[in-house]
Amino acid sequence: MGILEGKVAIITGAGGGLGRAHALLFAREGAQVVVNDLGGARDGTGSAASAAETVAQEIVKAGGRAVANADSVATSEGAANLVQAAVSAFGRADILVNNAGILRDKSFLKMDEAMWDSVINVHLKGTFLCSQAFVKQALAQEDTAAGARARIVNTTSVSGMMGNFGQSNYAAAKAGIYGLTRTMSIELQKHRIPVNALAPIAKTRMTEDLPMFTGVSTMTPEHVSPAALFLASHLSGDKTGHVLAVAGARMYAFKVVETQGRFKDESQGVWTAEEIAEHWDALVK
Ligand code: NAI
Repeated sequence: MGILEGKVAIITGAGGGLGRAHALLFAREGAQVVVNDLGGARDGTGSAASAAETVAQEIVKAGGRAVANADSVATSEGAANLVQAAVSAFGRADILVNNAGILRDKSFLKMDEAMWDSVINVHLKGTFLCSQAFVKQALAQEDTAAGARARIVNTTSVSGMMGNFGQSNYAAAKAGIYGLTRTMSIELQKHRIPVNALAPIAKTRMTEDLPMFTGVSTMTPEHVSPAALFLASHLSGDKTGHVLAVAGARMYAFKVVETQGRFKDESQGVWTAEEIAEHWDALVK
């Protein structure tokens, strides 16, 4: 029996790259899959229903169960349709993988408002809208599972966790997804809905022209999908609020670190700027 037998999984941006690999693996593990993809270009322009259709057909041909959905994750209407597609086809929704994404790189001073808005809208707003529509459905449907009621896997990035030249829009969106993941993980704990994030590195259409991937065949989407499967399945138990990173054979985690810092004796007054300068190393170490 597959790890996701009987589960209904929605995977956004699953017409190619990482989302497609997640969808194929989830279907092989028994999930009924909603393959969502707007089918646009890497920068988010255009659309084509064939992207989602092709992957859904691939799953069905291999003996799995899948339907295609070509809505944009970046609108509340699209998010509602996406969840409705799962309910119409399979009667419920148990797993959401927020994976859809676009890139519009430019150095900070040359970044314009449209580049900023489009990337924030697809990644950050899309993750918020799809998650909210999904959780409303999960809370409305019959609660059949003994463990988690439903599971959400978001997609952040090393760019969001560490910053990256030319990606102020994308890094801000991905760092926002980190904050959203943490907050959702806290708020949805009482509903038994774990929320975790992936931080993948893989050669896809999004990254294939980066010098680091030249001649590299060992960082595929298929290296990443088992981590998505783990976070989407009962194997991750009640783990929530984590960021699991995958780059080829390397599996690790991102964490925000709070330093010990120093206390100043309150009777000596508040910290002065000069004292902060003097004690800098001890404060940030
Ligand atoms: P990709 O470009 O192959 O896949 C992204 C998919 O999202 C595309 O098929 C695209 O049509 C779809 N999409 C874009 N806007 C959409 C919208 N509004 N609604 C629905 N679908 C939409 O790229 P890749 O690499 O597979 O990216 C998947 C996710 O992984 C993204 O969130 C990306 O930011 C993230 N990621 C990827 C890394 C990598 O090394 N490939 C690194 C870090 C994060």
